[in-house]
Amino acid sequence: QSKIRRNTVPQIAARKGGDPIVSLTSYHAHTAAIVDKYADFILVGDSLGMVMHGMESTVGVPLELMIMHGKAVVRGTQKALIVVDMPFGTYEESPAVAFRNAARIMKETGCGAVKLEGGARMAETIRFLTERGVPVMAHIGLTPQSSHVMGGFKTQGRDEDSWPLHEADAKAVAEAGAFAIVLEGMVEPLAAKITKQIDIPTIGIGASAECDGQILVLEDMLGLNEWTPKFVKVYGNLGPAIEQAVSDYAEEVKNRTFPGPEQVYK
Ligand code: KIV
Ligand code: NA
Repeated sequence: QSKIRRNTVPQIAARKGGDPIVSLTSYHAHTAAIVDKYADFILVGDSLGMVMHGMESTVGVPLELMIMHGKAVVRGTQKALIVVDMPFGTYEESPAVAFRNAARIMKETGCGAVKLEGGARMAETIRFLTERGVPVMAHIGLTPQSSHVMGGFKTQGRDEDSWPLHEADAKAVAEAGAFAIVLEGMVEPLAAKITKQIDIPTIGIGASAECDGQILVLEDMLGLNEWTPKFVKVYGNLGPAIEQAVSDYAEEVKNRTFPGPEQVYK
């Protein structure tokens, strides 16, 4: 029996201004076990709706799906803190609704924290959850669950007049007790400025190398998605490798060279 203890929320929070925090998303046990060797925390992101289930946005992701994938990632890992996204419609209405659904996620998956989108408007809820035992990671900037209001996926902070709003959002969630905050899709100098202004770690995606940590969607950085945005660096091109394997298999099935002598029971 392994006695490896998982990274805790206070350990992640204490990394503010220190060694950069390494994070990736994962949605299933097998990839999570690989990521677990290198990541400080793993996010079971609601991006799984698009990446794993072919949805057009994250808006349609049900709570049950987050719980199912959250369980798989907790089972597949030992070391990383597991953070599970609260999907659209499960937390915005009131702090009480948010607590009920966050508690379900924590009890049913065994994860260590939840993440939700929104700045100042979610501060009351973040405080409510944190005071009742639910650690919260906040998420501001480009918030995909609000894409219908924003009119798509738009990089934030291009107009410097909007910076004070984003800065106020970051301060509000930090003061409310969020232990870390994702800064997604915002111009680099704004992300760097916010990182200096607040005392909780910022986790960048399409943000800045000055953030206290970085996160990417695993399938994006593995080259498994047809389209990759500018902020993604493709570290491994698995798409073509998988296609080659599948086409080799198809060929060998058709010409009866698979199964070969080594794969049959004599
Ligand atoms: O759902 C997700 O994968 C996320 C990350 C991109 C931060 O929220
Ligand atoms: Na998300």
